[in-house]
Amino acid sequence: MSQIAISVKGLKKAFRDKEVLKGVDFEVRRGEIFALLGSNGAGKTTTVNILSTLMKPDSGEISICGFDVKLQPDHVRQNISLTGQFSALDGMLTGRENLMMIAKLRGVSSPAQVADQLLERFGLRDAANRRADKYSGGMKRRLDIAMSLLGNPAVIFLDEPSTGLDPEARTEIWNTIKELAGRGTTILLTTQYLEEAEHLADRVAILHGGRIITTGTLAELKQMFPPAKVEYVEKQPTLEEIFLAIISKKGEI
Ligand SMILES: Nc1ncnc2c1ncn2[C@@H]1O[C@H](COP(=O)(O)OP(=O)(O)OP(=O)(O)O)[C@@H](O)[C@H]1O
Ligand SMILES: [Mg+2]
Repeated sequence: MSQIAISVKGLKKAFRDKEVLKGVDFEVRRGEIFALLGSNGAGKTTTVNILSTLMKPDSGEISICGFDVKLQPDHVRQNISLTGQFSALDGMLTGRENLMMIAKLRGVSSPAQVADQLLERFGLRDAANRRADKYSGGMKRRLDIAMSLLGNPAVIFLDEPSTGLDPEARTEIWNTIKELAGRGTTILLTTQYLEEAEHLADRVAILHGGRIITTGTLAELKQMFPPAKVEYVEKQPTLEEIFLAIISKKGEI
């Protein structure tokens, strides 16, 4: 079995005459947490939507778990889940009903039991029977992510998983993501929180100007920028400093 869970080559996408993705290339290995970083409008959501078969690319070769997104979209869908940037909950249903509905759609055996386990794990047991539109932003987000775990997909796409969460809820989501990757799930997340990528990601890719301009582990990115030395005190650049330096350097070309 291939060790590459996600392969993207020459991905292009334009809206009308606006070229958003101009040839995006990257690979994600199985069990890896891969963070796609980029400013507002860089094309992160567009990329995730194309990889998860919600949107068609103009060109490029994309495979997920060995299946081609253009030729075998059903196979791709069977192996993935997507937690979008905006909540996909049905507000009229309770948290438990939302989970049950998706569990049944995904053919999970004993959906009630699995729903209860997830409610417990995400701290939603007490809110289980309340309508989801009455949940706080953080609770909605947790329920969204809980729903994406149903059916144990091999690849999970998380578009800005912790936007709008308080620090405690964010830490909880980070722990869940690490735990999933530890069990072999491949995770592609987008984020604008560089601290999030720094904490979580095995590798980081920076999407800028329609292309991936840098990919690497945090250690590799840090090597590109030697530590500043001030009176024998070594200061490692943060990912935020690296990110800003890289995109401003590109902007000058
Ligand atoms: N369906 C669409 N029709 C037209 N333009 C679109 C469409 N979807 C996205 N765009 C444009 O493509 C560009 C990239 O959008 P995208 O949502 O992928 O960015 P993003 O990196 O996810 O940004 P954010 O950080 O704000 O979520 C933006 O300029 C956006 O206006
Ligand atoms: Mg987005």
